[in-house]
Amino acid sequence: MTERAIPENELISVIIYTCIGFLLMSLVLVLFFYFSRKKIVKSTLEKKNLELQYQKDLLQATILTQEDERKRIARDLHDDISSKLNVVSLNSYLLAASELTQKEVVEITSNIINLTAKALENSRRIAHDLLPPTLDNFGLHAGVEELCMEFSSSKSVVVNYENRIHFSNSENDRLLHVFRILQELMNNSLRHGKATVITILFEEKNGLRICKYSDNGIGFDVNSQGSKNGLGMKNIESRIAFLNGAISINSLLNKGVEVVFNF
Ligand SMILES: Nc1ncnc2c1ncn2[C@@H]1O[C@H](COP(=O)(O)OP(=O)(O)OP(=O)(O)O)[C@@H](O)[C@H]1O
Ligand SMILES: [Mg+2]
Repeated sequence: MTERAIPENELISVIIYTCIGFLLMSLVLVLFFYFSRKKIVKSTLEKKNLELQYQKDLLQATILTQEDERKRIARDLHDDISSKLNVVSLNSYLLAASELTQKEVVEITSNIINLTAKALENSRRIAHDLLPPTLDNFGLHAGVEELCMEFSSSKSVVVNYENRIHFSNSENDRLLHVFRILQELMNNSLRHGKATVITILFEEKNGLRICKYSDNGIGFDVNSQGSKNGLGMKNIESRIAFLNGAISINSLLNKGVEVVFNF
């Protein structure tokens, strides 16, 4: 058998076509990687932008709440303390006037005593709102117990509270956030949910401290735009971020609200 030699020009064209084939394949591969990389970069950028927007929203909510809080404190100080001290001051000047009957002196003095007592009570209330003394002195457990009692005393709601964690008082600064979160959740349950039963449980699971909160109110659509208009829930999220925790909020209309967060 004799081997037929491949003609030289046929060999050259096979080599050229193979090279062109390889070149085309490489081009397709390069283009494929280029476009898929571009797509990945684009979706990563979009994700980062969404995260940034979310952080911005949280920051804005925090600033707005701080401003609201300042306004509220200013209003409380103005209406409940300054105005009363003004009248006390006026009454004291009156007392200094010489031509007063005994009856007038007694009247003005009792007025001053009443007003100073009220101003004192109000200043205690304002301080209490800013930093609940029970929480500050006796820790989160005592603070939450007192909060539950305050809500239960309104008789419109029963609060079941159970704590299976030992909290250290040295952590009070961080735990104040947990207290504020519960305060907001309870306010929402009464204001919006018209709940009659609230349940709070602190427990430890796999080394994580967890709070389970639920109410039996009218519930709400967690994804609706309306539920995103307030500041309360945004503040809760920024407090959770501060605590490096995570939160899940589940609710359905007429099925109450269930919130679980770790801290
Ligand atoms: N426990 C709940 N039951 C029913 N609806 C709720 C509950 N918690 C929240 N919502 C709904 O979610 C919305 C957002 O709550 P959020 O606390 O953020 O704002 P807000 O209470 O309306 O106002 P703010 O807290 O700023 O005073 C509420 O307006 C309400 O419609
Ligand atoms: Mg609220």
